[in-house]
This record gives sequence, C-alpha cells and structure tokens, in this order.
Amino acid sequence: MITLKNLVLRRGAKVLLDRASVVIAPGERVGLVGRNGVGKSTLFRLLDGTLHEDGGEFSYPKQWRLAQVAQDMPETDETATAFVVGGDTLLGSLREALAIAERDFERDPDDPDAGMAIAQAHVDLADAGEHDATARAQALILGLGFGTDELERPVDSFSGGWRMRLQLARALMCPSDLLLLDEPTNHLDLDALVWLEAWLKTYAGTMLVISHDREFLDAVTEVTVHVDNAQLTRYGGNYSKFEELRSEQLLLQQAAFAKQQDKIAHLQKFIDRFKAKASKAKQAQSRVKAIERMEKVAPMLASADFEFEFREPVNLPNPMLSISGADFGYIVDGEPRVIVGGVSRSVLAGQRVGILGANGQGKSTFVKTVARDLKALAGEITEGKGLSIGYFAQQELDVLRPADTPLEHMVRLAREVGANAREATGEQALRAFLGSFNFGADMIRQPVGTMSGGEKARLVLSMMVWQRPNLLLLDEPTNHLDLVTREALAMALNQFEGTVMLVSHDRALLRSVCDEFWLVGRGSLAPFSGDLDDYQRYLLEESKRLREEARGVAGGARAPVVAPAAGRPGKAVQADPGPAPRATDAGAAKRARRAARAG
Ligand SMILES: Nc1ncnc2c1ncn2[C@@H]1O[C@H](COP(=O)(O)OP(=O)(O)OP(=O)(O)O)[C@@H](O)[C@H]1O
Ligand SMILES: [Mg+2]
Repeated sequence: MITLKNLVLRRGAKVLLDRASVVIAPGERVGLVGRNGVGKSTLFRLLDGTLHEDGGEFSYPKQWRLAQVAQDMPETDETATAFVVGGDTLLGSLREALAIAERDFERDPDDPDAGMAIAQAHVDLADAGEHDATARAQALILGLGFGTDELERPVDSFSGGWRMRLQLARALMCPSDLLLLDEPTNHLDLDALVWLEAWLKTYAGTMLVISHDREFLDAVTEVTVHVDNAQLTRYGGNYSKFEELRSEQLLLQQAAFAKQQDKIAHLQKFIDRFKAKASKAKQAQSRVKAIERMEKVAPMLASADFEFEFREPVNLPNPMLSISGADFGYIVDGEPRVIVGGVSRSVLAGQRVGILGANGQGKSTFVKTVARDLKALAGEITEGKGLSIGYFAQQELDVLRPADTPLEHMVRLAREVGANAREATGEQALRAFLGSFNFGADMIRQPVGTMSGGEKARLVLSMMVWQRPNLLLLDEPTNHLDLVTREALAMALNQFEGTVMLVSHDRALLRSVCDEFWLVGRGSLAPFSGDLDDYQRYLLEESKRLREEARGVAGGARAPVVAPAAGRPGKAVQADPGPAPRATDAGAAKRARRAARAG
C-alpha cells in the first residue's frame, strides 16, 4: 500500500502539494494525471527517494522492488540485448552471488558451505528465469520496434529516441512490485505504443503511469489520481471515467456556486440598503458576517481554458511543394542509403496530411528532408514562392538552452528571424506574446532547465507560432503536452489556413486534424485510403510479416528471436501479446459508433 498523508511538497517558490492525501492499494494500475507543471514528475522523485517531503507522511512497503525508466541517455557499447538483460537487477545480483560462491569453493573445495552456496545460487538463478532472460529481453526489444538485425548492435550506435526505448525495455525487464512510468509513450510510434499497452496489461505489480494520452491511459489504468490545486484526488476508473466523474463534480460545484452567488447578492442588497440606517445597522452587520461565514464554493477554474491560434500566414503558395522523383535517406560511409525512394507528389495549400508508417520506415526522414534539415538523395523538391516552414521535432526540446529563460529565448528568436516575421520585436510585445501561451510574469524569468517537460514543449510551440509559418511540419508535437494544451493545438490546427503535415502517435489528434493519410512503408510513400482503424490492422499484418521474415532469418541462430515469456519470472504471460484483440475492439467500437450515428 502506498500512503500519502497531509503531504507537503515544494519546488523553488512553488507549493506543488499542500497537505495532500491519497492511498493506493497493492496491484492497482494508476494513471497520474494533471496539467503541465503541477508536479507529477516531482511526485515520482518522492517515490523513488531522490526528493523528500516538506511535511506530512509518506510510506510504502520497504520490501517493494521499484522499477522505473532511467531519465538519462545511456552511453555504453554493450549490445542492445545485453543492456536490456542488465535491467534484471535480481539476475545481476544472483550471478554475482554465484561468482562469489564459486571463488570460495575454489579456495577451499572441502568447505561444505561453499558447495551448498553454489547449489543454492543455481536454484535461485533458475527461479529468477535465467534460462530465458535473453529471450525475454529480445522480445521486449522487438516489441518496442527494433529490427532483429539490431539486437546485437551497440547501444551508443542508436539515436536518442531509440536509446530511450532501450531504457524503457530495461525497466520492463526489471522484476518489480512497483513500476513507475513517466510519459512512457513519448518516444514511441503508434505500433510500439499498441504493443506496450498489451504488455502493461500483463504486468502483475502496482503500476503508476503519468501520461497525457487518453487512449493509452484508458487501455492500461483502472484508477486515476488527479493532481490539481496542490491536492491529490483519487477516482475509481480509467481516464474517461475520471473525466466523466470530474465534469459531473464541476457541474455540481458550478451549480452550487451559482446558487451561493445568488444568495450573496441577495444579502449584499440588504446590506447596501440598510447599512446607513441606524435601526437596521445591526441586521446589516450580521448579514455581512453571514457572507463572511459562508464557505466559498470554489468557482470552476478558469485556468483550464487555454487557447491559442496560428497567425494568418502572410501568403499561401500553391502548391506549397512539388516533390518529383525524390529519394530520401542518408549517406552512410560515403554511399547513399535510400529509405524512401521514388516519391513524386505535390503538397497543396490548405492540405492536412497525416504521415503514417511503422517504426523506422522513414516518416521522420521524409519530414526532416522537407524541412531542409536533410538533403534529398535524388530528385527534386521545388518550394512554392514565399514558403515559410514551421518545423516541430521532438529533439527540438534540446535546442532550448537550459540556463536561459523563456524571455531570453524569444528575444534571441526575434533578433534572428524578426525581420521577416512581421511581428513586433520589443520586449513588451514578446512578454505579452509569452503571456498568451500561459507564461506569466513568474515564469518568463525561470531558467528553462528547471521547467517541466510540458512547459518546455509549450515554449517551443510558441516560438514556432511566432514565426508565422504557412507550412507546418509537426513530428510528434504532442509529446509532453497536457490534454488541455493538446486540445488547444488541435483547435488551432483546425483553424490554421496553411498546410499541415503531421506525424503523431496521438490517435485523437490525427483523427481531428487530418483529412488524408500518406503511408511510408516498404521503401516508398503512397496515399493510404483507409482510416486509423484500418491502419492499426495494417500495422498488425505488417508486424506479423516482419516477424515471419525474422524467423526465417534467425532460423539457425543460437537465441530464439521471439521469446516465449516476459514479465516476472515464473509468471505465465504472453511474451508478444500482439495488438490483435485491440485492433478488432477498436474496429467494433467504430462500427458501433457509426451505426449509432446512422440510427
Ligand atoms: N528547481 C526549480 N525551481 C523552480 N521551479 C521548479 C524547479 N524544479 C521544478 N520546478 C517547477 O515545478 C513544477 C512541477 O514540475 P514537474 O516536472 O513535477 O511537473 P509535471 O507535473 O511533471 O509536468 P509535465 O506534465 O509538464 O511533465 C513546474 O512548474 C516546474 O517549473
Ligand atoms: Mg513531468
């Protein structure tokens, strides 16, 4: 049981939790939700012991083993498989115990204790699932989207996002009683995300997951803890249930508030009328007190409303881009390596394209090339006159300078591109602009390095909006953003007059923004005629195809490529749960919705 009682937690000048209490029972799967910057990640730091409470009580069973995704980028030349196996800390310590026992035995072969210790170590190792550790690790790695040819590649040869996936695999590999996941879907694409959902459903311990992805939360959690107003509120149910319960609560609160306001107005009228009259002064006075005594029902928080809009583009070239016979990819050892080839397409003004594609098929490569961060290997990309690209990529968060404040970032941006952005560049104007993105007076001077993930992402977004683009290239723009901000982004994109090309694993965003999909896969790019449910089915078939291909390749290999079991030792779970039931469910749900709409 995890118990927080009257807990106080501070960070800098902010009081993140103020006498907050909550209880979580063993085995519960909890979604920890709340706006950007309310202190969710900080709460994890309390649970893992890196931070201490500033007041109140906090406890969970001492014997609980805790697993979480390390925040740092792994730097090691270990192979991906070895790195993930290393996540099983129990196995590591048992192997060490065996080595010690063997050394003792060598020193004194007649020592009966040493012999026993060796035997015991072997039993423990078997119990801990040593025999299939490699297979379990590889199942995790493949499930998270790596190819079979990458299992033995050194960790530091992978890009940042992929290394973070290995960190996630390592955390899942660790046998644990409490699993902490802080926005685990940020580095995943849709197919790895669906795989992770299925895996987490088989996890037997207590799980706390921070996420802003509604569909993901609905799939993996059954309890929701909401961080709001420095309080923790527990709701029995997944995210959708929580939203339902909370909006009912807010409505009730709103009604109670309105009623109370009426009463106050009534009393106030009395007071105003009679306070001057000596004979009635006493009654008026008691009514003043009545108002004071009346417990103020908090009004519905207006702070939940956040909106922004993209400025009207200065011009709208049509077509925005013409791509003809272009190859996309990289130069490896002086040789061109084409990832997506032979692309001929036009991008028109006002088009809303969702770019789909399984892991590593080249979505980002394509977008990066259009954004001019990479050169096309062949063919031509002709840009319309006056094209102004707004490019948002995940690694964009890295371009923020940790020591600088939001205001300093804006001042620098204004200096660099101010001339062609047609925006006021004075400090006053920049402050006002930041204010419209919820960076108040207190935050515009906070070093970016101390801000939460969502706060940083919102800053990057605001910097993009400020540049008045007419073509938006958004590569996973919703990572870190809370739901209110995501909805604000979806709204803003819907009103945007320019063109949008969007890569996202946020199904809700794809659904609400895109009119058409392009599919990157098997080395080419083509329009995808189906909807997102069709796409999930496509992913399923594609991963089956790749698995079969892999089985063919690995036929004679030493380690089995698709492992028989994952999760805790001794627990019978499906290693590769596969998204099959989900895809069908989604399809059924959609059909039901369609039927309901038709009826
Ligand atoms: N050293 C610090 N000095 C001042 N403020 C800080 C410091 N560290 C964190 N904060 C603030 O504490 C708040 C909580 O941060 P935290 O990372 O826990 O938020 P979060 O709920 O995880 O948000 P997100 O959803 O964006 O990840 C943020 O507003 C952040 O700016
Ligand atoms: Mg956080």
